[in-house]
Amino acid sequence: MTALTRMFSHALHSSCVVMRSPCCLLTSTKTLILRLSRHARLPRVYSIYHCQALRCFCTDHSQSSKPYYITTPIFYVNASPHIGHVYSAVTADCLHRFKLLQGYNSRFSTGTDEHGLKIQQAASNAGEDPLNFCTEVSQSFKHVFQRCGILYTDYIRTTEKRHRQAVEHFWTVLHSKGFIYKGTYEGWYSTPDESFLTPTQVIDRIDSEGKPIKVSMESGHKVEWMKEDNYMFRLSDFRTELLHWLRLNPNIIRPVKFHHLVLQWLEDEIPDLSVSRQKSRLQWGIPVPGDPEQVIYVWLDALVNYLTIVNYPQNHSQWWTSVHHVVGKDILKFHAIYWPAFLLAAGLPLPQTIFVHSHWTVEGKKMSKSLGNVINPLDAMEKFTVDGLRYFLLRQGVPDSDCDYYDDKVNKMCNSELADALGGLLNRCTAPSLNPTQVYPHFCNTCFPKELCGKAVSEDYRMLEAVSALPVLVELHFENLHIYKALEAISACIRLTNAFVQRHAPWKLDRKDPGDQRWLDTILHVSLECLRIYGILLQPVVPDLADKILSRLGVTPEERNWDSLNFLMRYEGRDCGLEGRALGPDLGVLFNRLERSQVKGRTHKMAKSKSQ
Ligand code: MSP
Repeated sequence: MTALTRMFSHALHSSCVVMRSPCCLLTSTKTLILRLSRHARLPRVYSIYHCQALRCFCTDHSQSSKPYYITTPIFYVNASPHIGHVYSAVTADCLHRFKLLQGYNSRFSTGTDEHGLKIQQAASNAGEDPLNFCTEVSQSFKHVFQRCGILYTDYIRTTEKRHRQAVEHFWTVLHSKGFIYKGTYEGWYSTPDESFLTPTQVIDRIDSEGKPIKVSMESGHKVEWMKEDNYMFRLSDFRTELLHWLRLNPNIIRPVKFHHLVLQWLEDEIPDLSVSRQKSRLQWGIPVPGDPEQVIYVWLDALVNYLTIVNYPQNHSQWWTSVHHVVGKDILKFHAIYWPAFLLAAGLPLPQTIFVHSHWTVEGKKMSKSLGNVINPLDAMEKFTVDGLRYFLLRQGVPDSDCDYYDDKVNKMCNSELADALGGLLNRCTAPSLNPTQVYPHFCNTCFPKELCGKAVSEDYRMLEAVSALPVLVELHFENLHIYKALEAISACIRLTNAFVQRHAPWKLDRKDPGDQRWLDTILHVSLECLRIYGILLQPVVPDLADKILSRLGVTPEERNWDSLNFLMRYEGRDCGLEGRALGPDLGVLFNRLERSQVKGRTHKMAKSKSQ
């Protein structure tokens, strides 16, 4: 059972709730969440949406071979990787690692989107052969992701043969079912977004040379009028079905704000979609099967990558029923409207979840090559370490709204939460001066009894409650893509544990006195148990730091999964397998404090990148 299920069923039993109706279940769930959030000092306002989410997690997820397939968008190769791209990848990586820890058979894909007009133009501007151009940039994405600890299981390039075959098959299915017809498209097109726009989606602007132009209201990119004979997809046929799907499944698009946004888009009629371009304009793409004068629209081509990965059309069904997409808000329309409509037309199951995140700006401005403020992830990792950057992006990244990046903020966050609070706690509680034998210390039930009659004080009991409730909260927040809230809750608990150690000042106790020694051991045991829980929970976010913590505590790899989140068993009168076991070797400082000058000195913005 997952921690959430365990905790939930325990809470239901302990409060003797009889589950007669969903309504009753919702009420009790809400109460439980309110109680849990109080322990971890989290906001108390939880919507019915959260309750429904929690309810659906109460199914048993423990089947160890249950598939989970998570994807990142595939990245355009017209520009080098920046922290915005890394944020998409780290978010998906975190969810993948989380699912692995829960015992799922998780598969995680990423890759590069290499066709289309924008890439054709970028290669031509660079004076390079398109494939060589794509290969070079695709390699740089791969390199950054590997460096950043992105544990992908599949990497795809849309120029691969396997992908071309999947796209051709997919097209043929849509065509043979009558969802694609030959027509004329007349309207606005944005090449940077590779997107068709209706007249209501464009506005007038004046360009840098004073000329009037039209731009996309959403992206600000320039649009051009085009009129072409090409193939159209019957998108308009699917509006009602899409509305029905989303209304019936309010958890598909998370966070919920984006779910509402898509419903709002679907309120209006949606026009049919042009799904090919004339070869005379676009050569760099997959030709339409049976019509070499037309090339398949890059978004149709790109979206099929998710199927190519799982071996479509041969034996994709095992994975295709459990697909979860991570996407930035700018590509929500493609994933929440076009893609499900294509899938419905092809007779394939729809995605289980579309996790949506917002964008990173830098020092208050949109990242752009012309402003020279594009943050190179390799530079950022050099300054802040891999885990420092991952922690910052996931701790500070609020998917519901745009977030701002600046070096000082990363610096402060890493120093206060990783170096001081977490590193300090580990250092204090494993120090040979307090624990000369370097074993996991013994817990004494007389010092820390169930009732308030030992040496522990009421704040200590509140801390225990908060840490016990933490796995459930973290799980809930991960599932809703509120990773920052999970980290906020962990951080609040770390502060409570530090305060616990500070309050009882174990260094002042007399180790020669048996009573003091028992209490000292108990303080350390409780603190190490807290650290063990934090270490396990932090693995999806900061894998290297978490490994350092758990290794120092002597926790074996088999004891690091979600089922091991059994906090302080000795308090419950149960055995603790770690008690009396040798601690792991001292691996030094957990996270080195970063000096401001050091960070400033090493600040250099993105080096030369591929042309946009
Ligand atoms: N190729 C398409 C996706 C096709 S998926 C079938 C694409 N590529 S992209 O390179 O432009 O963007 C890839 C991802 O990076 C998207 O999720 C996008 O939202 C994300 N980001 C790009 N810039 C970003 C920020 N400044 N901040 C956060 N994420 C951003 O779209």
